[in-house]
Amino acid sequence: MRRVNRYKEIAANAAVERLESGLIVGLGSGTTSELALAAIGKRVKEGLGIIGIPTSERIAGLARGMAIPLSTLAEHPVVDVTIDGADEVEIGTLNLIKGGGGNLLREKIVAASSKRLVIVADESKVVDHLGTGWAIPVEVIPFGWQATEKRLKDSGAKTTLRVRDGQPYLTDGGHYIIDCSYRPILHPEELQARLDATVGVVEHGLFLGMAREAFIGGREGVKRMARE
Ligand code: A5P
Repeated sequence: MRRVNRYKEIAANAAVERLESGLIVGLGSGTTSELALAAIGKRVKEGLGIIGIPTSERIAGLARGMAIPLSTLAEHPVVDVTIDGADEVEIGTLNLIKGGGGNLLREKIVAASSKRLVIVADESKVVDHLGTGWAIPVEVIPFGWQATEKRLKDSGAKTTLRVRDGQPYLTDGGHYIIDCSYRPILHPEELQARLDATVGVVEHGLFLGMAREAFIGGREGVKRMARE
């Protein structure tokens, strides 16, 4: 296993170890979340009684394959804890950039419905300031996306429409993603308000004030960061 995958795995395991029976658990998306899912699947096999709320079709399919009981926000509008990955985790604030894997909309809906959002990541994701290395994925309605992109450019972003196999990448919700680089992000709250108010934008990958705890895997083992 590559070293970085091992770091992701030890972080994922540290979060999953803390789960108890009876919890409604948001199941994040991405490679680190998939390692967490594998650990949850193992614990469910051993008797852990949780109900999972998946944040993507892919994670739902994988969870079914592991016989992890699943439900929806319709049945369980309040989630006890969500374990999810991140592209950037800011030291101190635990503000995040998410959506590298394209699942930010459902991830944010599940995170906003969760009493506790726990991030699992390898140490390369930890940054002093958001936007250092990653663009912010912005999910947009396909209709008139070029006009939405212009509005995003006007807000100071360097934009790139996400493409897969020569076609615009389609999210689970049937939307496009425009990756927006604002390097550096000087005022994340102001940027959040601006993106929230941009016509054509469905959601964006700035997750501010949402994560309460992060398990970061690295050379020296797992480090826990918390914002109580
Ligand atoms: C999925 O859309 C993302 O938000 C992921 O959680 C994030 O990109 C981290 O992914 P990895 O765990 O694969 O690095």
